Formats: sequence, structure tokens, C-alpha cells
Amino acid sequence: MRVIILGAPGAGKGTQALRLCETFGLSHLSTGDLLRVEVAANSLIGEQAAAFMKQGQLVPNALIIGMIQDRMARLGSGGFLLDGFPRTVEQAESLEAAGIVIDQVISLQVPDAVIIQRLSGRRIHLASGRIYHIDSHPILVDDQSGEPLVQREDDQADVVANRLKIYHQITEPLMDWYQQKPLKLSRISGLGTAEEVYSRIEAVVQE
Ligand code: AP5
Ligand code: MG
Repeated sequence: MRVIILGAPGAGKGTQALRLCETFGLSHLSTGDLLRVEVAANSLIGEQAAAFMKQGQLVPNALIIGMIQDRMARLGSGGFLLDGFPRTVEQAESLEAAGIVIDQVISLQVPDAVIIQRLSGRRIHLASGRIYHIDSHPILVDDQSGEPLVQREDDQADVVANRLKIYHQITEPLMDWYQQKPLKLSRISGLGTAEEVYSRIEAVVQE
């Protein structure tokens, strides 16, 4: 199973991806998570990406494509779920060029107003990528490690507005691009509880 989860910032891609990967035994490849680990480690990739991420801009294609190809080469033959990649037509074309066949694209649909509320209360555990919200998880430590949760720098209101604008301008058109491809494309409502959204996704993945 080779799946892409698309959706606006804060649509719930990461939340759903973690559970899908656990249930279906897929490797989770989140370019955002990978980049945040690089930034925290002050690596060369991290240094190059940090300024773009801070402003909610896309990191240049060449950097992202190089990073994801490196990770995918180490995956072996098992299934995977791509979360946050591709985000541009050029990135999607790089998968095709590398001979990587995608079976399914799931697009989570959430209105911008809901996203702003979700992102303002998000907290994450940096090392694992586990995701929380202060409304449902007011104790700001990670369930499994007991380590503190952090707020993402790009979850400030002005940066969120920028990320949403870029999503609508550059990433949303990818849906039309994938529509032309021989794969299963599902538009799924990301409204309701994470549990409800998961049930909808699970149903289309199992079909
Ligand atoms: P990335 O980390 O991928 O951020 P994003 O796409 O903006 O998406 P998010 O991770 O913010 O949201 P999500 O959809 O995963 O939502 P989540 O599940 O956390 O990328 C960050 C940056 O890296 C980019 O801006 C860019 O600079 C760079 N980058 C990454 N990939 C790139 C690429 N391919 N090309 C170029 N640049 C790239 O949920 C959000 C909140 O809502 C949480 O608090 C969660 O608990 C809550 N929540 C989730 N589901 C529900 C629900 N159903 N009901 C209520 N609350 C919910
Ligand atoms: Mg995410």
C-alpha cells in the first residue's frame, strides 16, 4: 500500500497518518517532521530549511526532493504513507521520475476557520512527532516519554495565514493533477472528531 495524504496545514494529516500507519503497518514519512528534527539538530538541511519554515514558506523543491529520496531509498519494499509530500507538481513529478507508483491519494477537506482553531492549540512531542491539542490534552507532557510538549514556531496566527495561502495557491491544484492519474483519489471530510475522520479514511483504504 502506497498512500499520500493531502490536506491543508492543520487538516489532521499527521493525526490520521500516525494511526493509519500503526493499523496497516505502513512507514510514515512526514517531510515536516523530518525537517523539524533536522532543524533541532542544526544540520546542514536544517539550517537551509529553517528560515522558510519559520515564515510558513515552502522549502525549495531540490532540498525536499533530495531528503525524501534519501529516506525512501532506505524503506525497503513495505508500504508507506507520505504526509506533507508532495506539495508541488514538481515534487509529484519527482516520484513518477523515480518510478514510485502511488496507489491512493486521500485528501482531507477542512475549512480554514476550523484550521485556525486547531493550530492555535496544537502541541507536539518533537522526537516522535506525536500530536496533541490543549483542549483535549491540557497536561503538556508526552503520554509515552513523559517529555515536555512544544508549540510549533509556525503555528503563530500570521504564519498560519501564510501557510494557508500557499496551500490554496500551490498545493491544492495537485488534486487536479492526481485526478488525471490512474490511482484512487478520495476527498474526505476532516470535520468531526479524529475518531470519526479515521473511520471515513479506514473505509476507503479498505475498499
Ligand atoms: P508540515 O509539518 O507538513 O505542516 P503542514 O502541512 O502545514 O501540516 P500540519 O502538520 O501543520 O498539520 P496536520 O494536517 O498534520 O494536522 P495535525 O494532525 O497536526 O510542514 C511544515 C513546514 O515544513 C511547511 O510549512 C514547509 O515550510 C515545510 N515543508 C514540509 N513539507 C514540505 C514539502 N513537501 N515541500 C516544501 N516544504 C515543506 O492536527 C492539527 C491539530 O488539530 C492538532 O492539535 C490535532 O490534535 C488537532 N486535530 C486533528 N484532527 C482533529 C479533529 N478531527 N478534530 C479536532 N482536532 C483535531
Ligand atoms: Mg503534520
